[in-house]
Amino acid sequence: MDKLHIIGGRPLHGRIVIGGAKNAALPLMCAALLTREKVTLDNVPYLADITTMAKLLMQHGAALSLQDNPPPLGSAPHYSRRLTLEATHIASITAPYDLVRTMRASVLVLGPLLAREGRAKVSLPGGCAIGTRPIDLHLMAMEALGARITLEEGYVLAEAPAGGLKGGDIHFEKVSVGATENALMAACLASGTTCIRNAAREPEIGDLTALLTAMGARIEGAGTDTLIIHGVTSLAGAQHRVIADRIETGSYLAALAMTGGEIELEGARPDTLGAVIEAMDHIGVKMVEEEGILRVTRRAGALTPRDIITEPYPGFPTDMQAQLMTILTQAEGDSAISETIFENRFMHVPELTRMGARISVSGHTATVHGRTPLKGAPVMATDLRASVSLVIAALGAEGETTISRIYHLDRGYERLEEKLAACGAEIKRVR
Ligand code: EPZ
Repeated sequence: MDKLHIIGGRPLHGRIVIGGAKNAALPLMCAALLTREKVTLDNVPYLADITTMAKLLMQHGAALSLQDNPPPLGSAPHYSRRLTLEATHIASITAPYDLVRTMRASVLVLGPLLAREGRAKVSLPGGCAIGTRPIDLHLMAMEALGARITLEEGYVLAEAPAGGLKGGDIHFEKVSVGATENALMAACLASGTTCIRNAAREPEIGDLTALLTAMGARIEGAGTDTLIIHGVTSLAGAQHRVIADRIETGSYLAALAMTGGEIELEGARPDTLGAVIEAMDHIGVKMVEEEGILRVTRRAGALTPRDIITEPYPGFPTDMQAQLMTILTQAEGDSAISETIFENRFMHVPELTRMGARISVSGHTATVHGRTPLKGAPVMATDLRASVSLVIAALGAEGETTISRIYHLDRGYERLEEKLAACGAEIKRVR
């Protein structure tokens, strides 16, 4: 299995192109099941999860064409990977366990299949490293649209009424990105009007709403926690450019905070980074936006401690929690980090501790004692965002770090080591 070798202590200097958002591209791909016509997506990132989703959609009957090998770095300021999907017919309404268990986002075919075919058989995703990851809110939303849900041998069987899904009232008692996306996609083809209350407001949902609207859906309230969808009888094909990845952007902000230097992030969308920008500014990262380029430097002196509570958007994103914890080891003073979204998202703590960090965990709160110099060590990636936090730690550590199980990283970061090496980091992948 691949590993990353990193020698820390080098400031970053250079330009990094931010790719399309994984967590936008995945639901956008599923939306293609809602129409027989061609859906074209630009700026699709080169990630393992995209390949997994492509396999899943192909076994449902979608024809896909995907540019395969990324052009050399820097060859095109905005090289854009184009993915076309065409689900003229649905060959299977079953999302099999072997695919769903490797990627939880597979559950996002539930709403489209139910809306398009009136039936869906989707494997329960099972838990993952960061939590049990139930899908009860997804199922509640489908039932609110008239579906009958039964569970059988680890699969969800969903059946729409004879006349198809009917618009209804969906009120999420907890904010869920995926459940909001499934409800939104299913409601587009339900007869009548659907109201989704306490909807998630992440920018990726705004991106999905933009594609669905371009396909002919009638959606009101984009960006708010109340979405109104007036169902239509069919949707057409459309073309859409995937929104920039705000978590990839935030991860490079954290890398700079660790190493110092100056980087330019091209294609970033600072307007989708609300609470992250505010936290980074407080901690000591300077960001100036000029003509679509985000110029990033670090203020002189030590980093400033910051208490963090993860919350649904526009609060501080849970997907940036591990990265912030890592740089806060370098702040002069203590920071309290509370993880309110997932029940087990501190698995980077023991690995950071191996590198010299002093972090105490009590329940959902981790207290980071700073400033503690980090030392390189062999460490292990456990989940996607924990992986990148170990890369960030290694970039600022004294000596060499080896990170194993970096297949986690490849699920969500496109060519990370190439982008960092191009900015002067001593980082290489060894097979
Ligand atoms: C999406 O996951 C993202 N994944 C996650 O990113 C992200 O961390 C998460 O939203 C929160 O922002 C994709 O978009 C592909 P949720 P999702 O439903 O939709 C509970 C990454 O690193 N819940 O908003 O699965 C759930 O257990 C990944 O890129 C229920 O209880 O997250 C969690 O505690 C990790 N019942 C909370 O809600 C349900 O039916 C929020 O989960 C659904 C969720």
